Amino acid sequence: EKIHEFRETLLSWYDADGRATLPWRQDTSPYRVWVSEIMLQQTQVNTVIPYFERFMTRFPTVQSLAEAPEADLLKVWEGLGYYSRVRNMQKAAQQVVGDFQGEWPKTMKELQTLKGIGPYTAAAIASIAFKEPVAAIDGNAFRVFSRLFKIDSDIAQPATRKEFFELGNKIIDPVRPGDFNQAIMDLGSSFMTAKNYDSENSPVKAFNAAYLDGTESYYPVKSKA
Ligand code: ADE
Repeated sequence: EKIHEFRETLLSWYDADGRATLPWRQDTSPYRVWVSEIMLQQTQVNTVIPYFERFMTRFPTVQSLAEAPEADLLKVWEGLGYYSRVRNMQKAAQQVVGDFQGEWPKTMKELQTLKGIGPYTAAAIASIAFKEPVAAIDGNAFRVFSRLFKIDSDIAQPATRKEFFELGNKIIDPVRPGDFNQAIMDLGSSFMTAKNYDSENSPVKAFNAAYLDGTESYYPVKSKA
């Protein structure tokens, strides 16, 4: 039915045009996925790529990150900003080594016990590295899902995240949850960006309820703080 068609359309586009060559998509170990997701929180993909490669060369394992002198951490992060991110990463690395014997926890729930890992990052790691079918809800997902399904809940309200998470969990591909989440991210940064939406050419235009009735500019609904 429609949900299967949607998954198939989205993932076919992801496979053909998607960015499978991104370094964190080549090898989806939890450590790599985690580092990439933290970097991508406040920084554009193209900027992140060389930082990611340098980080992996300098700190190839969670153990090496856990033991690193702070000066080395700050050095590899220089230019990315938001230095609390890398300090939290070292604390999380120490938790993985100390509390989990170096074995990453495999569920979204447990991943959230690590410093600096909230629901979005936990869902991204759990789905991409461990194939748990959980939706990663960030600004991209708010934008894409609100338009596809004409959801007019206020995304500035904390309760709305849960609503999108539950919807996302219903439509996520159970076989390829990580690719599904990353395909939604790619839609959100290509055909369905905040300022521009080229829905006419979007691979999922037939599934985009707001596009089909001309109300796309209305979504996502966000109240002023
Ligand atoms: N933004 C956040 N996570 C991402 C990912 N895994 N791929 C591309 N863009 C992203």
